[in-house]
Amino acid sequence: MSSIRHLASGYDVAPLAAQLDAHPEAWNRHTMRTDAYQTPHKSVDDIWVRYNAWANFTGDVQAFNAEHESSWYPVIADLPAAWSLARKVMRDVGGKRLGGVLITRIPPGGSVAPHVDTGWHAGYYEKFAVQIAGDEQQAFCFEDAELRPLPGDLYTFDNSLLHWVTNDSDAPRITLIVCVRRDRPMLQPDERIPFDMYFASLASMQVHPGAGTKEHRKLTLEECRDMALQMIAIRRAVAGKEN
Ligand SMILES: [Fe+2]
Repeated sequence: MSSIRHLASGYDVAPLAAQLDAHPEAWNRHTMRTDAYQTPHKSVDDIWVRYNAWANFTGDVQAFNAEHESSWYPVIADLPAAWSLARKVMRDVGGKRLGGVLITRIPPGGSVAPHVDTGWHAGYYEKFAVQIAGDEQQAFCFEDAELRPLPGDLYTFDNSLLHWVTNDSDAPRITLIVCVRRDRPMLQPDERIPFDMYFASLASMQVHPGAGTKEHRKLTLEECRDMALQMIAIRRAVAGKEN
């Protein structure tokens, strides 16, 4: 599994950037992540857009971060573009359940220290990010790879591995992090050609929906996709790879 991977470009991030400019008061209403003792996120500003409802916080951080259903925070009324972008990411990556949505900002010269993210939420959801503001002097780093995303880029990363972020530019770095649970795993680079082969052969097949009838039809493209992904899962199991 690669630690960080660019997936797409061209997400329209201008509306969210404008809404963030218009609502400077939205930052740092919930500072559990950035205030904690020895947190790697000391120099970071946050907006919690969606997570465990704040009404469920009783003072017990561990209980609050345990298994829960996420809900939108009231700030979404001021930042509706975060909602739109998160829904678009869900659709584009085939998400089934939307978890937390977080906006982070690293100031010029700031950084996030090397760390791994632990806990139920970090482990349960896959991490996707849309770059809202960024440039090539900023880097999201893992031990084996790094990415320097530009505004509108979508990427995914594995936060169970050691990672850190640097901002050596003179502009803030702003990222929308969208946590998504999917039923079907994302293709690995060495699975794309097998997927295309399965997909092409399924798309050319005729199926017989009614036994004993002459009726036949082609599989729909969605059926071809789902069956090709099943073949990939079988291929992984046979090859002894983890999902
Ligand atoms: Fe992290």
